[in-house]
Amino acid sequence: MTPDGRILHALRAAGRALSVSELAAEAKLPPGALEERIDGLRAAGYEIELAPHAGYRLRAIPDRLIADDLAARLGGTSEKGGPLRIAREIVVFEQTASTNDVAARLARAGAAEGVAIFAEQQTAGRGRLGRRWDSAARKGLWFSLLLRPRLAISGWTRLTTWAALGVARGLEEALPGCRAAIKWPNDVYLRGRKVAGILIESVAGRPGGPDQGGFAIVGIGVNVNQTAADFSGELAGRATSLRMVAGEEALPLDRQEVAATLLKRLDALYGQLDQLNRAGEDESDRFASWVAEAESRSLLLGKWVEIAAPGAPEGSLRGMAEGLEPDGSLRLRDGEGRVFVVSGGEVTVSGWEGRPGW
Ligand code: BTN
Repeated sequence: MTPDGRILHALRAAGRALSVSELAAEAKLPPGALEERIDGLRAAGYEIELAPHAGYRLRAIPDRLIADDLAARLGGTSEKGGPLRIAREIVVFEQTASTNDVAARLARAGAAEGVAIFAEQQTAGRGRLGRRWDSAARKGLWFSLLLRPRLAISGWTRLTTWAALGVARGLEEALPGCRAAIKWPNDVYLRGRKVAGILIESVAGRPGGPDQGGFAIVGIGVNVNQTAADFSGELAGRATSLRMVAGEEALPLDRQEVAATLLKRLDALYGQLDQLNRAGEDESDRFASWVAEAESRSLLLGKWVEIAAPGAPEGSLRGMAEGLEPDGSLRLRDGEGRVFVVSGGEVTVSGWEGRPGW
């Protein structure tokens, strides 16, 4: 953790004023250097009060993503006590085209697993199937994780279920009392509207080749502080934000806290993916429990849906979403009883739900 991270961590953890010498000790800095760092943090927007006889107290934080602060909130919170494996290193851009592109460039340059790239704003944020992803400045969390899963390539489809469950669980923790649903494969919904989307782009490695390690870029977009007025056009009726779900009068949420919660949930589950791989079939029960959770959160099961599928005769498949397969794929049954298993695609829920006459 950096000195700034240690200062913020200590002030937050104390929940009271810390004397100069206490804070200097926590930050591992001489008192003179501490003052300099405090000035720097104030310049970045932190309100740090110095009260005579009491000491330093953190009064307010800026609405900005700050890598040191985020790392400080995560420090030592992994299940093994160290930094999170999926966010060993955190980088924040004020603006970039797409965090997925930045992460992919790093991966191609050989960066190790565990870099988390955040941007306050994306100018070319993209969603699945080449769609645009609205990434307004400071309204949400737009970030990508560079992962090198130690899974056989056939197991990489599990990343979809992992990411959807991690985000769903994390959002429920960030906004207690809400229930997050999943629109297969990995859109996350609150109260019937989309609050988060996930775009996974992966490159398989070539065993024995120089780029043996493939990588997956897991791009996550979460609407946090938008109000209804921020969503126009087709988003107006379909999208929501955590703040909107919290209630009309709700104040903006602390985006860094939401980010930390999501990263912790995703990290805890990511560790289990490895165990699944090492233990092979014996542990398939654990993945089965993830699939069961994804089913229980599913917005689609029991509904009649249409899935764009390039290989299908009419370019799409239609049927009732019957369940998820052991690898997380969606199983459909059409009106004639034919079963289709789809591993990805864009799902439209039909307006004539539950009626097989089409
Ligand atoms: C979807 O719902 O279609 C997926 C949306 C994914 C958006 C995130 S925001 C961070 C990352 N960078 C991008 O350009 N896209 C993903």
